[in-house]
Amino acid sequence: MIRIGIAGIGFMGMIHYLAYRKIPGAKVAAICEQDKKRLAGDWRAIKGNFGPQGEIMDLSGVSCYRDIDEMISDPTLDLIDVCLPPDWHAEVSVAALSAGKHVFCEKPIALTTADADRMVQAAERAGKLLMIGQVVPFFPEFWFVYKTIRGDKYGAPIGGHFKRLVSDPNWLPNFYDPKKTGGPMLDLHIHDAHFIRLIFGMPRAVHTIGTMRGEVAERFTTQFLYDPPRMVSAASGVIDQQARPFSYGFEIYLEKATLFCDYMALPELGDALTPLTLLVGNKATRPKIGSADPLDVFAAELKEMVRSVRAEEPSPLLAGNLARDALVICQKQTESLLKNRAVKV
Ligand SMILES: NC(=O)c1ccc[n+]([C@@H]2O[C@H](COP(=O)([O-])OP(=O)(O)OC[C@H]3O[C@@H](n4cnc5c(N)ncnc54)[C@H](O)[C@@H]3O)[C@@H](O)[C@H]2O)c1
Repeated sequence: MIRIGIAGIGFMGMIHYLAYRKIPGAKVAAICEQDKKRLAGDWRAIKGNFGPQGEIMDLSGVSCYRDIDEMISDPTLDLIDVCLPPDWHAEVSVAALSAGKHVFCEKPIALTTADADRMVQAAERAGKLLMIGQVVPFFPEFWFVYKTIRGDKYGAPIGGHFKRLVSDPNWLPNFYDPKKTGGPMLDLHIHDAHFIRLIFGMPRAVHTIGTMRGEVAERFTTQFLYDPPRMVSAASGVIDQQARPFSYGFEIYLEKATLFCDYMALPELGDALTPLTLLVGNKATRPKIGSADPLDVFAAELKEMVRSVRAEEPSPLLAGNLARDALVICQKQTESLLKNRAVKV
């Protein structure tokens, strides 16, 4: 049994807690939270943009810490699951790794490349696993793409376009603060940067055009430069109005097939505008894919994390290095936007 301590019981901490219940071989043995009500099990005020509303929880059998260092020192824990805001990721992950725990940390890995490097190095020094919760590969459409490419049935990926857009999330404090959240680039687009890195590899350079809000990129389109025939692009960020529900989508070209999908959060009309579609020759099919229920998606991600800990081998999907590369790509995109020219990665 892998004994887990969750740091931060907000939106993500709650989702992870609920998802772990679906995973045999994993037990949430501790939580750490600074909010007294949440620490006592009153999670009713917790609500995010998906998943269930929080409830009153029975936390008997769970050690409840207010102080993160105390939880990290708990000798009964194998892994610390960091669901704190991004500005805490590096400090808490490095402390936990140095104390001999494995770490699973929510995205983005960190707000600066220097911090991400510290985390990766701390894991190497300690001989422990650092995994980052870049969850997108576990969404059923993306999972299908990943498996199809790995299976090599339709040849190598030769290009694609990704999109991830939303109206201004003006209810989120600190969203545009580069020292707290990192804005749309690190909160939103990093998901696609990670997936692009996963299936196409590291780009040679990026060329981004867009708008800034204060010190962070707001809305942007990027060309990711690879050796031909690979051509990859993405449109991401925040539209400064309130009429653009969250949406994502992609069109991905393999040597012998095309995959595309388009999702928008429009519950009254059905969420998927275009379900995942596979085109081979002139034949279009809608492959059967897994559950898109967010709790199932996060459970799939955490299951892979548990598998990796048990096997004592880095996960190819959750590896700290991969998440670090995604952060580097995002930082280069902002640099390119500011310099108004392509920059090497
Ligand atoms: N993968 C996804 O789709 C997804 C979605 C949302 C958030 N996230 C990520 O999850 C992380 C957390 O985001 P969230 O939306 O859950 O935030 P949140 O604000 O809802 O929750 C953070 C919790 O941490 C607690 N906290 C803060 N500092 C603390 C400290 N020093 N000690 C103890 N508790 C502390 C807060 O009281 C709060 O309850 C972020 O990195 C975010 O990017 C990922």
